[in-house]
Amino acid sequence: MSGRVFANCMLATMVDGGAPYGLVESGAVAVENGRIAWVGSAIDLPVAFKTWQLTDLGGALVTPALVDCHTHLVFGGDRSREFALRLGGASYEEIARAGGGIRSTVAATRAASDQDLLRSALRRVDDLLADGVAVIEVKSGYGLTIEHEMRMLRVARAIEQHRPVRILTTWLAAHALPPEYADAPDAYIDEVAIPGLRAAQAEGFVDAVDAFCETIGFTPAQVRRVFEAARDLGLPVKLHAEQLSDLKGAVLTAEFGGLSADHLEYLAISDVPRLAEKNVVAVLLPGAFFALRETQLPPIDALRTHGVAMAVATDSNPGSSPMSSLRLAMSMACTLFRLTPEEALAGATRHAARALGLGDEYGSIAPGKRAELAVWDAPHPDFLSYWIGGDLLRGRIAGGDLHER
Ligand code: NIG
Ligand code: FE
Repeated sequence: MSGRVFANCMLATMVDGGAPYGLVESGAVAVENGRIAWVGSAIDLPVAFKTWQLTDLGGALVTPALVDCHTHLVFGGDRSREFALRLGGASYEEIARAGGGIRSTVAATRAASDQDLLRSALRRVDDLLADGVAVIEVKSGYGLTIEHEMRMLRVARAIEQHRPVRILTTWLAAHALPPEYADAPDAYIDEVAIPGLRAAQAEGFVDAVDAFCETIGFTPAQVRRVFEAARDLGLPVKLHAEQLSDLKGAVLTAEFGGLSADHLEYLAISDVPRLAEKNVVAVLLPGAFFALRETQLPPIDALRTHGVAMAVATDSNPGSSPMSSLRLAMSMACTLFRLTPEEALAGATRHAARALGLGDEYGSIAPGKRAELAVWDAPHPDFLSYWIGGDLLRGRIAGGDLHER
């Protein structure tokens, strides 16, 4: 006897190409050394696994553990005052141009101790864990000096020592201009964003490189230089693209073979084929769309028609998307963006894993993948996007072991 078998469950394997959700009504999963050894209908369980320790899941729904592929969840302070100002009529851009917005979070983040940053991040991580999340991407971008950007990623990586979660870290120094570089964006790219990236990479803190390509962020030419530096280091890129206007950031991301282009409300339909050709994942962030009261929808139909993989993430951050529930993001993706519940779950599992370059490891229940699963009190996978809030997670299977809540 070596592994374990989990049975008496409804499996949403999220394996593409077969039944909706890759559904197996009376399923079984065999797990060994933290990996999935076999998955299928319980009646087909091969005899070799019948001597393994059997765990009865009592008819629960089992999905791959969720993956939140776009967050900014390490930050100091909050922006609830700004929320009130926006409700009073001020726009996100106006607040940013007046020195609020991202810059106010930069001041609060710089002022916070490492311990404070970690403690507040862990609260948001705990919320995500309660939604069955096992992998979280965390970006820098609120430090905006080499030291503070590196510190953010160091704190993000430390999360793994405190919680059962895998953290991927993304260098996002090209997020906003800090006050000390006001009116000198090119100098900021040359003196902070690029040399800082090299320093952070040398310390092993960088899994991917991102930028905010926007009129209140950085120009495509500036982003291109950051991307070239990433390519020289062999690091994958992704981009905050077309969130507030169409600067052709998604096309630039495709040119660099990027992992993902994120937001995309202002993506031109004519640019969608470029994402498809280069297998760039479109990361949809309905929490930011909702909280900014955006009305321009991402071109969902065109993305779907061209077969662009659509991921769904929280964008958890203090300004544009103050939320820490991936299931809520899935619900919003359905209600606001008209994804089907199946597309929303694929967006938070299989496609999200791909957006992090982890498609071989996470995101579906298939032999060889990690045995990172979520066990739910839900009658059907549609329920996960349909029900708003609530505590639906019954437990998680992590590293092959069942952890009941
Ligand atoms: O993904 N757009 C830029 N970055 C974040 C917002 C950050 C902030 O407002 O603090 C986003 O929406
Ligand atoms: Fe973001």
